[in-house]
Amino acid sequence: MCWVNALLQQMCTMNLGSTLIKSRRSVRKYQNTPVSDVVIKEVFECARLAPSARNSQPWIFGAIRDKEMLNAIAKLADNGVFIADAPICFAVFGDVNQTYYLEDCCAATENMIICLQGHGIGSCWVAGDKKGYVDAVTSLLKVPEPYKLVSLIPAGVPAEISSPPKKAVEDVTFFEVWGDSKK
Ligand SMILES: Cc1cc2nc3c(=O)[nH]c(=O)nc-3n(C[C@H](O)[C@H](O)[C@H](O)COP(=O)(O)O)c2cc1C
Repeated sequence: MCWVNALLQQMCTMNLGSTLIKSRRSVRKYQNTPVSDVVIKEVFECARLAPSARNSQPWIFGAIRDKEMLNAIAKLADNGVFIADAPICFAVFGDVNQTYYLEDCCAATENMIICLQGHGIGSCWVAGDKKGYVDAVTSLLKVPEPYKLVSLIPAGVPAEISSPPKKAVEDVTFFEVWGDSKK
């Protein structure tokens, strides 16, 4: 490939959205710096603007900064113990009476994570929904029925970033029908 084509190809793949998505990794260690109110507001904005089935918007979003609350959530959510050391943890709740609440809330969760990434704030998706601690976290945060915890998103300025390996694009994609080698 000549250098002009190579440059053009590179320029085509450079845009804010894909740059943010490609640079994101789950962050589980945070610096002790608070996340600003401006960023929190933006995260809520990006959350509420996520796509949802039939535009049902079956969600509510929380931001927890109180240290005692963070500790309590971390104790309950055993696979998110690092929540205790995060300056903030967002929580996404879905209305279980809406058929697609899970998909909708996952879309909102990813929007929030990418928004944080754009502000230089690392985060990690911590599971809700299928976990045994869902009811305990929901009542701790005094969230009423019919809302169910879908995800927790501890966030902060990264203190450490890991980079787990990803599958190669050619191994997970296809054109027209699976197995077609023409790409
Ligand atoms: C639905 C979902 C649930 C997850 N739950 C947890 C979790 O409970 N605890 C955790 O440390 N990471 C959790 N993760 C983060 C994944 O471990 C992480 O995305 C994966 O290892 C890939 O790493 P990366 O995010 O850096 O690309 C979850 C991610 C998703 C999408």
